Parts: sequence; C-alpha cells; structure tokens
Amino acid sequence: MSKSLDIEFVRNKFPVFQNSKTKDLAFFENAGGTYVPDTVINKLNKFMTETKVQPYGDFASSIQAGDEMDNSINKIAELLNIGTDEFIIGPSTTMNMFLLSHGIKHWLNKGDEIIVTNQDHEANIGAWRKLSDEEITIKEWTLNKDSAELEVEDLKLLINEKTKIICVCHTSNIVASINNLSEIVDLAHQNNIKVVGDGVAYMAHDIADLKGIGLDFYGFSLYKTFGPHLALLYGRKELLEETKNLNHEFLSKEIPLTLNPGGPNHEELACLSGLTDYYEDIYNHHFSDQNLNLYEKGKKIFKLVYSHEEQLMEKLLSFLKTKNNVTLIGKSTHLRNERMPTVSFTVKNKSSLSIAQEAGKNGIGIRNGDFYAWRCLKGLGIDTNDGVIRISMVHYNSVEEVEKLINFLDISI
Ligand SMILES: Cc1ncc(COP(=O)(O)O)c(C=O)c1O
Repeated sequence: MSKSLDIEFVRNKFPVFQNSKTKDLAFFENAGGTYVPDTVINKLNKFMTETKVQPYGDFASSIQAGDEMDNSINKIAELLNIGTDEFIIGPSTTMNMFLLSHGIKHWLNKGDEIIVTNQDHEANIGAWRKLSDEEITIKEWTLNKDSAELEVEDLKLLINEKTKIICVCHTSNIVASINNLSEIVDLAHQNNIKVVGDGVAYMAHDIADLKGIGLDFYGFSLYKTFGPHLALLYGRKELLEETKNLNHEFLSKEIPLTLNPGGPNHEELACLSGLTDYYEDIYNHHFSDQNLNLYEKGKKIFKLVYSHEEQLMEKLLSFLKTKNNVTLIGKSTHLRNERMPTVSFTVKNKSSLSIAQEAGKNGIGIRNGDFYAWRCLKGLGIDTNDGVIRISMVHYNSVEEVEKLINFLDISI
C-alpha cells in the first residue's frame, strides 16, 4: 500500500493550528505567505534570547550565532542540492531580482534584448523592464488569452541573436500551470541565452531540480515555503563570479555576498534551519531509510505532498465545475504534474472583493486582487481593480477545510 501524508502529524507541527485564536481559520492564502512550523519558531526564539549579538566574534554567544547561521546555509544548500556559495539570502524575491539585474547589467550592450512574460508576478518583470533605461530592448512573451498558458512556440518567435536573457516563472501565482523550464532552458542555452526562473509559486509544492534543469538563476521566497520572511536567489557559481560587486569593497571577492549588500537578516537566517528540521521530522515520521541526503529526503516527502494536494484540488475543482457563473483561470485539471494547487477565478455578476470579505467573516482566509501579476490579468481581459479570487492550498490544508470552503462558496456564489 502506498503511503499517504499524515495530515494530523503535519498540523501538529504548526502552533497556529493549536492556538484557540487561530486554529479555526480555514487558511487558503498560502501563496501570499505560509504558516511556520514550531521548529522555525523555536529557533527564532532561541536566537533572539541567547545569541542576538554580532555573529562570528570570539565570545560564546557570538560564535554560536555564527554557527547557527552557517548551519542554515549548509542545510538549505543540501536541501536544494546546490553549493553553499551558489545562493544569496535576501529580504524578498523582488529585492533579489532587482539586485541580480544590477549585478549583471554590465553583461549587456545597448540594443541587446531581454524577454519577460506577461504571465509572471512583477518581481521577475519590473527589475528587467527598468533596464530599458540603459537602452536594453525588452520583449514580451505573451500568454495565450484563451488558455492563459505561455507557449514555447511563441517564445521561439521572439528569440534572435541579440537575446541575452529570458525571465520566466516556473509557476504563475495566478494561472498555476507548471511551465516547462527544462525545455525553455535547453532552447535558451542552444542560443547562448541565460534563464532567470521565478520559483516563488512552485517551491512550497516541490523542490525544483535546479542543477538538473540547468537553470542559470532561480529565485523563491522562503516565507512562502514555511520559513521566515527571507528569499533565496540561486545562481550558477561561474555566473555569480561574473556579477558586479554591489557590496562593500572586499579584499578578496566574496562570492556570493558581492551581490547582496544588505546581507541576510541574522535571526531569520539562524532559524531557517528550522525549516529543514521540519522536513526531517516529516521524513522520519513517514520513512526509515537514513542513507539519503536532504534533497533526496525532500523529494520523497513532496511525493506524499503531491498526492495530498491532488486530493484537495480534485475536491475543489469538481465543485467549481458545477458552478456555471464561475470562470476558472488556467487548466481545469487537478493533476499535480500539470498545475499547482492554486486556483484563481472570477464570478459573473459578483465582485471578487465581496466574496473575499464574506469569506473572511465566515472564518475563511482568501483574497482577491491582481497579486502583483496585473499584466497577467490584463492579458486575460480581467478587471485589475477587483481582480480574481485566489484560493491557494498547501500540504497542511485538510479535506475538512476544503469542505468548509466549498460549503461557503456554494451559498455565496
Ligand atoms: C510568483 C511570484 N513571484 C514573485 C513574488 C514576489 O515575492 P516577494 O514578496 O518575496 O518579493 C511573488 C509574491 O507573491 C510571487 O507570487
């Protein structure tokens, strides 16, 4: 018999589900930011209580602070199967993409071209579009208005010998389809083009195989993957070495810190290993083989997550399909190899805002809006003020919560 995710075990790891003030909210705004497990909270508390000093000094608390921060870097590198010197940790993906665009703009000459999409969140569009001030040409890979998908055939028409960078999301925070980054990277590399992937809406549901896909750069937000409010930007080492130093002048080039003048927030970095502790706990609860590294363990956990999320999606989508006044964005499949468990829709003759507000009064956390993917909404002909209703689920959501949501929607839409 195949294993399934022990949802009770999972939810017991999250203090928010034990607290009488918060436990009854059916929370479906996970794409905006996820809850954090006790392992993260406890480490944050410990750091703030015992080691809130400048790290890497010679006295006990300072040594410990530095060790805890290094531990997080090591664990996260192992989880993602990348080198400890192949990523920066910054405050947000928006900021990391901005830094990256500044760190590599000297690679570009006037008239060179960057391709951005209109399916993406603004984080992996805006920073690049600003380079038009430097006479870089920005081209838009436009989604198919009917399917909401990005089609690789359309991308091929945009590529020429001046194209230097393609910026594209792994998953859109509205459409939720999984874009085929392997195919896009292969196409790009055949044409000597770099790819910057946005994994923010992907990484709560899987661990992207950054090396296997061959990505040049890839960013995601740790606060949307059960961690503190930080974001990670991966870059291939040989490329990071060619970025401009945006930090202090160092005596020797300190890759990857050169890209990140602010450096990571200490307490948040220290508690980040609480995230890998959480994954270890989930792994140990479901599996026994200890001869695996964190990346391999993570992949096994996410297989369980995959089935659980599919189950939630199947329930929600089969309900939504019965509602004639609902226009669903993107694929109507619950299959996780095609889309993530984020569902956006509009309702005929009912504002998205009113649905979100009513839901809030009924103990359901959903939101409406453009979610900073206003170009995507415009491309689909949707009013950006009222926007869509978005329901985004992760592995700690229960079938009972989805039933509560369906009961509410059945009456209100
Ligand atoms: C797909 C996607 N990309 C980028 C971002 C921006 O992330 P951050 O808030 O870390 O800047 C978001 C945030 O919602 C997102 O959903």
